[in-house]
Amino acid sequence: MRFQSKNVLITGASRGIGLSIAKAFAAEGAHVFMTARSEERLKAEAAAINNTGGSACWYIMDVASDKSVKQTTQAVLTDFGQIHILINNAAIAHQELFLKNDASIARMEMEVNYFGLLRVARAILPSMIEKNEGTLVVVSSVTGRVPYPTQSTYSASKAAIIAFSEALRGEVKPFGIKVIVILPGVTDTEMAKDIIIDGPPPQKPEKVARIVVDAVASGKKEVITNFPSRMFIILKKLVPNITDRIMISSSKRFIGNQK
Ligand SMILES: NC(=O)c1ccc[n+]([C@@H]2O[C@H](COP(=O)([O-])OP(=O)(O)OC[C@H]3O[C@@H](n4cnc5c(N)ncnc54)[C@H](OP(=O)(O)O)[C@@H]3O)[C@@H](O)[C@H]2O)c1
Repeated sequence: MRFQSKNVLITGASRGIGLSIAKAFAAEGAHVFMTARSEERLKAEAAAINNTGGSACWYIMDVASDKSVKQTTQAVLTDFGQIHILINNAAIAHQELFLKNDASIARMEMEVNYFGLLRVARAILPSMIEKNEGTLVVVSSVTGRVPYPTQSTYSASKAAIIAFSEALRGEVKPFGIKVIVILPGVTDTEMAKDIIIDGPPPQKPEKVARIVVDAVASGKKEVITNFPSRMFIILKKLVPNITDRIMISSSKRFIGNQK
């Protein structure tokens, strides 16, 4: 019960990693605010948490919409006073060769994955600064450090949020606010099910969620969630040419299908 009575707002909590994070914080005594666009899923999953002794409520929030983010965050802050931990997790991902990828898809990935994070952070951070406490968790991806062929625009959005988070960390530290970056490898969720990658087996979202909760408890700055991803990130620094070859080889099946 490391987070008894803490308010935790999670974006993209209707399924996948975000839902597992909501369950993991609720199991540690936190009050979780689950947000996403799918009303039915949010309602059912929040009820499931409440039925098993946790404390959850849900809000519709589209991180790509200024109006939606403003309305929801204002409602939560008015009703509950404070968000102690903000988990920026909502994202979309596409796999396509860059030249076949419609420009509107790349734009939408940036709108949700990058500008969505900025929107929610801008809405919540002032209240954390006022209270001189808070933790901002940013769920990026190993592709933010080791970009993956066939996911160039998604990888770019994930690299952008790492750079943003590292710069922001210095700005908010004087106010007692921590910024934690999470770099998951391939995880067994709806997002990953249509992505063709030949590599290590996917990890379970529950495992990523446990790592997130532990990272917040210990205040780590950055966590890579599995061993293969840690290896890829180290190899990329030490032997970038070999790492590039591994990435090309693991995307060959998708590229082959496209020819
Ligand atoms: N799965 C992987 O292999 C993997 C690997 C590395 C990193 N990640 C990262 O982990 C995070 C979670 O991914 P996941 O695998 O759990 O994906 P997922 O199963 O597709 O879930 C994505 C979540 O984001 C929400 N979402 C999408 N667009 C939104 C929008 N405009 N506004 C609000 N919510 C939105 C979805 O809910 P609604 O559709 O209901 O809005 C859903 O709850 C993402 O940041 C992803 O980049 C995933």
